[in-house]
Amino acid sequence: MTIFARLKNQFLSYERYMVIIHPMITTPIQYPFPIRLRRNRQSESIRKIVQETHLRPSDLTVPFFIIEGEKKGVPIDCMPGVERLTVDLVIREAAQLHERGIQSICLFPVIDPALKSWEAEEAWNPKGLLARAIRRIKQEIPTLCVITDVALDPFTIHGHDGLVNEKGEIVNDATIERLIQMALMQAEAGIDFVAPSDMMDGRVSAIRGALDRQGFENVGILSYSAKYASVLYGPFRDALDVKLQFGDKKTYQMDPANVREALLEAQLDEEEGADILMIKPATFYLDVIAKLREQTKRPIAAYHVSGEYAMVIAAHQMGYLDAGKVFYEALLSIKRAGADMIFTYAAKQVLDRM
Ligand code: PBG
Repeated sequence: MTIFARLKNQFLSYERYMVIIHPMITTPIQYPFPIRLRRNRQSESIRKIVQETHLRPSDLTVPFFIIEGEKKGVPIDCMPGVERLTVDLVIREAAQLHERGIQSICLFPVIDPALKSWEAEEAWNPKGLLARAIRRIKQEIPTLCVITDVALDPFTIHGHDGLVNEKGEIVNDATIERLIQMALMQAEAGIDFVAPSDMMDGRVSAIRGALDRQGFENVGILSYSAKYASVLYGPFRDALDVKLQFGDKKTYQMDPANVREALLEAQLDEEEGADILMIKPATFYLDVIAKLREQTKRPIAAYHVSGEYAMVIAAHQMGYLDAGKVFYEALLSIKRAGADMIFTYAAKQVLDRM
């Protein structure tokens, strides 16, 4: 048997065979397919109608790295397009973004090395850079939701998120006491959400209790519930000038291999009173977001982190990929996986495509 005859016998009606093999012949196929999915893709308007996932400006949270001073922007080597900004410039940029529909920002202070210490006292200084920034921003743009990290790493000499004992271990319960002080200082300054990003056990209920006792029952907790010990935070640490002096963060941040554990972390945070649950990083962890979506009725946040941003910008600079298009597709996939809000350094590129 010839190959054609065999193909014909096994798979194809004569009509189909003719259509496929001879491009000139346009004989319609005799038996129609029951469903033609391409009908719903044939024009821009139909594609828009059947679009299942939408990215909106209010889905995005824009992180800012704040420095002391006025009218100054300092580029970040590993994050081209992102700058450390003085508070006046943060306000100017945040106001413009707010006009374009952005509803939330988060703040990371770049701390003068002379103010860093083993006990991280600067973290709850009511006159420190972070407290002043929160006050000014909430005063100038009161309708913008402002979120701040609760973790000690920008303020410690060693760069860890918690207190360290003489054996070099990160001490859970003593750290929580400091996190409470930090959260109360931020609440006092007018923050909307505190975001514990330290991964200590039990910190959400401790912070919730302290906030409530001090009359801050309306300050929310956006918990970094499943924060993985990821290589993708490198550029962020560069931006804040945080260098780990010893060890790594694997005794508190999660093993990238685990997903059940992440669901349990999120469940505990929810039970402890977290208002929003975060998965971080985002695109390598879409399965975790999707599974958490099935588990919880709480809103889910995802952090599209510094490394996820930097990789795309680097590829763009090499001429390999179009950064704007990649960011749009990446954030859409995070939304599709089940996230309600996305922290991203690529907000401007994505807003331009909305
Ligand atoms: C601090 C913190 C980190 C990030 C957010 N909060 C760094 C870390 O845990 O080492 C990373 C964000 C990013 O990479 O964009 N605990």
